[in-house]
Amino acid sequence: MFSQRIEWHTTPNALGELLARKKDAGRPLLDLTQSNPTRVGLEYDSEAILTALARPGALVYEPDPRGRPQALEAIAAYYHGLGCPLGADQIFLTASTSEAYGFLFKLLADAGDEVLIPTPGYPLLAYLARFEGVRAVSYPTRYDETNGWAIDLEVLEALVTPRTRAVLAVSPNNPTGAYLKPAELAVLDDLCARRDLALVVDEVFADYAGPQAPPQRLGTVAGRTRCLTFVLNGFSKLVALPQVKLGWIAVTGQATKVRAAGQRLEALLDFYLSVASPVQHAVEPLLAGRHAVQRQIVARLDANERWLRQQAAQTAHCHVLRREGGWYAVMEIRDALGDEARVLGLLERHNTLVHPGFFYDFQREGFVVLSLLPPPGIFQAGAAHLLA
Ligand SMILES: Cc1ncc(COP(=O)(O)O)c(C=O)c1O
Repeated sequence: MFSQRIEWHTTPNALGELLARKKDAGRPLLDLTQSNPTRVGLEYDSEAILTALARPGALVYEPDPRGRPQALEAIAAYYHGLGCPLGADQIFLTASTSEAYGFLFKLLADAGDEVLIPTPGYPLLAYLARFEGVRAVSYPTRYDETNGWAIDLEVLEALVTPRTRAVLAVSPNNPTGAYLKPAELAVLDDLCARRDLALVVDEVFADYAGPQAPPQRLGTVAGRTRCLTFVLNGFSKLVALPQVKLGWIAVTGQATKVRAAGQRLEALLDFYLSVASPVQHAVEPLLAGRHAVQRQIVARLDANERWLRQQAAQTAHCHVLRREGGWYAVMEIRDALGDEARVLGLLERHNTLVHPGFFYDFQREGFVVLSLLPPPGIFQAGAAHLLA
């Protein structure tokens, strides 16, 4: 009766089962997977946010498939600030970045077509592709201590088939934190232009550079490619308000392709009109308020990371990988324990939740992923169990 697209749902994993038991038993957790910014003790300007969401214009329904023009202008101004002169007509609102992926897969691919996604990478991408009948094919990114993470561009190109429709990149990547480098972008741009593929770059963490960010990092890839390029972002990370539900797609690249894509995207969006009016009226003030919350988040990420590095340096077996940006730390642990046993043991004995590397498709055992967002007290207590 049900579609194959959601078939994985029938088999819960061991970590999910144990977590459900802990929650049922009312155990307080040291949750080092927490990436909900509204739950980690940040100070928001509540009055400004609520005022922005209660503007009188929100009482009127004025559907526009692209989004309210003033909202598009405010987002275009954000890209201008990054040195990229985008027109408001190149921006399309969605209810979230995840929803934006769904629209792009509808726009670019037929059932059975393929898109290339990074590994290690954000697990949701493969599911979002699958919901549209699209096959996600993983390309490798590799780590070395001197250079950090880099895309294996040769393997990526070898994975392109006649059914490939798009190359997806996340900059900085979740969970590895690697920004797309100018040289990588140049190769991807050339490949996509030659093979008539679209480039999709998810920049939801782009404003969260860490102390090890490369000086020549790209603030955005918008406006820097010839190939048809879709740049994704949204309010859940950029202004740390996942609950207001706003994402967008910026379309850039060769002008005729941008126009053709824009017309089709607008037609698709018109069937859903999924972005609520209050947030469309709030875009300008909410964007303007992002710096105060971003500063707190960057300070939190850096402080937790610094503490973790200091502690890991005192062990023989734990090592924190280089983080150029984003909200996560990847820790390599050299011991005889398997990753599943490690995360289950931590949860069972210490009520501490971390993600095993295999959730993100790390190619071998020995990695855990920690959110750097939790308050320092929780982060340090949980990470101390892990380090021990
Ligand atoms: C790389 C990446 N893209 C997109 C999203 C989802 O963003 P949204 O809440 O706008 O759907 C996330 C959420 O964690 C993410 O890590």
